[in-house]
Amino acid sequence: MLKRTADREHVLPLLEELGGVTEETVRQVSEKTGVPEAEVWGAGTFYTLLKGGPRVRVCNGLSCRIMGSDQLVADLKAKGKEVEEVSCLGQCDRAPAALDEKLKVFDAARQKRSITPDNAELPLNLAGRPSYDFAALKKARELGPDGILKQIEASGLQGRGGAGFPAYIKWKGVAGQKDPVRYVVCNADEAEPATFKDRETMLRRSDKMIEGMAIAALVVGAKDIYFYIRGEFNAEAAAVQEALKRASAHVKDWNWHFHRGHGAYICGEETALLESMEGKRGMPRLKPPFPFEFGFRGKPTLVSNVETFACVPYIILSGGEKFKAWGKTEAGSKLYCISGHVNTPGVYELPLGSTLEELVQAAGGYMGNPMAFSPGGASSGFLPIEKRNVPLDFKGLQKEGSMLGSAGVVVLNDTVDMAKAAQWQLEFFEVESCGQCAPCRIGTRYLHNQVGKYLESGDPKSLQHANDVGWEMEEGSICGLGMVAHKPLVDALKYFPQAFQKR
Ligand SMILES: Cc1cc2nc3c(=O)[nH]c(=O)nc-3n(C[C@H](O)[C@H](O)[C@H](O)COP(=O)(O)O)c2cc1C
Ligand code: SF4
Repeated sequence: MLKRTADREHVLPLLEELGGVTEETVRQVSEKTGVPEAEVWGAGTFYTLLKGGPRVRVCNGLSCRIMGSDQLVADLKAKGKEVEEVSCLGQCDRAPAALDEKLKVFDAARQKRSITPDNAELPLNLAGRPSYDFAALKKARELGPDGILKQIEASGLQGRGGAGFPAYIKWKGVAGQKDPVRYVVCNADEAEPATFKDRETMLRRSDKMIEGMAIAALVVGAKDIYFYIRGEFNAEAAAVQEALKRASAHVKDWNWHFHRGHGAYICGEETALLESMEGKRGMPRLKPPFPFEFGFRGKPTLVSNVETFACVPYIILSGGEKFKAWGKTEAGSKLYCISGHVNTPGVYELPLGSTLEELVQAAGGYMGNPMAFSPGGASSGFLPIEKRNVPLDFKGLQKEGSMLGSAGVVVLNDTVDMAKAAQWQLEFFEVESCGQCAPCRIGTRYLHNQVGKYLESGDPKSLQHANDVGWEMEEGSICGLGMVAHKPLVDALKYFPQAFQKR
């Protein structure tokens, strides 16, 4: 007997609890929630982690490919393991990365990796000891919403999730809504290939993130605060839970809730994330309206990235101007992730606007002869190494036709075939497209297939329409995935034409 009121928000957690999507679990979830079986099936099958069945997951993101993921897959299969190749595991500093059957990082001790050493002066200071005195929250309560907003405005803080949108404008936008019910949501879905800074922040400085979220809730007048944490991040989710326990004396004015992702890159896009929180397929919404006015359950919602929230305690304690002064070309310090052909991949906190050259210095130098880099995740395409002194910031990279995005930098040396690198990135976008816009759904598949044809036949003719298709995708897609998915190929064709000659 179906319940009268459908309870969609429990659909995905229930499917997870029951071990994934099967005819039987779908029937049970439908009975418990009142959501029709067809809809439970439709939502559940969208997410890879709800497929069920034990298997080792091997990452086939760019950094993992160039560090030998194909060989790892072959070795594991030879040992009789059930292996699934997946788009990205957020472990590029452990490339080639894999998770075992229980989602534990596989063979983690092999790689040399690092973070910026402890320095109490740094705004985020990942290597520092967590602090639970929550002095910034105390000060924020004294300042009140207007006083806090003044500091956020003075800080020049731009969202660290990818778009670089000014935090002050977003916070003010939510605070100014008529509806008295508002929500704060932390986007901890981190799935952009090459990006693992939010992972390290949750593991090491959840104190800062939680304090920042509480301060945001003070400003926007939210009572309920949500984490949306990537499904593969078990250790990270446990670290956040533990930190929340330790912070409980300071943050009991709010109800804290956890949502886990279920294995879909697109759920990092904020409206897809909200759809997923509501128990549906993670398909981006058409915007406007934006979440600040129509977000979770249709209410005004502040969705921000882990790192953005984690910057806030420093801004309140030390002042917005001091945070701003950390930047070189734009405001603040920034967590840069670096992987690929460098000696010590990791997360490095540097002034915003530092160059690739400075970042690589922090990461122990280049491995081999550098040829290209991808400055901000798969979505940012490729730049030639001659651009190594361009500031890695939001505006500077935009001028170069690229973007900082989530600051996931990958260095490629001259052993890499750029046509193959473009093919790998296109495979990622084809697999991860949610499929609701034709230009994105068809375009990602077409471009991926055409590079494959070129690599098989050696005839560059198969790529003659790449730029036109890229233009259509950019113009005809409703979210950032489809708008940028052509970039790896179009950039590779532009900067590395020698890789696409007749072979
Ligand atoms: C395809 C796609 C994937 C995204 N993935 C993430 C993500 O994993 N984490 C994140 O914080 N933002 C991600 N974003 C950006 C979010 O939509 C949103 O802008 C961000 O969470 C806002 O937070 P901020 O203002 O702190 O940057 C993604 C955007 C797109 C288009
Ligand atoms: S652009 Fe692609 S990923 Fe984004 S909504 Fe459209 S089909 Fe989905």
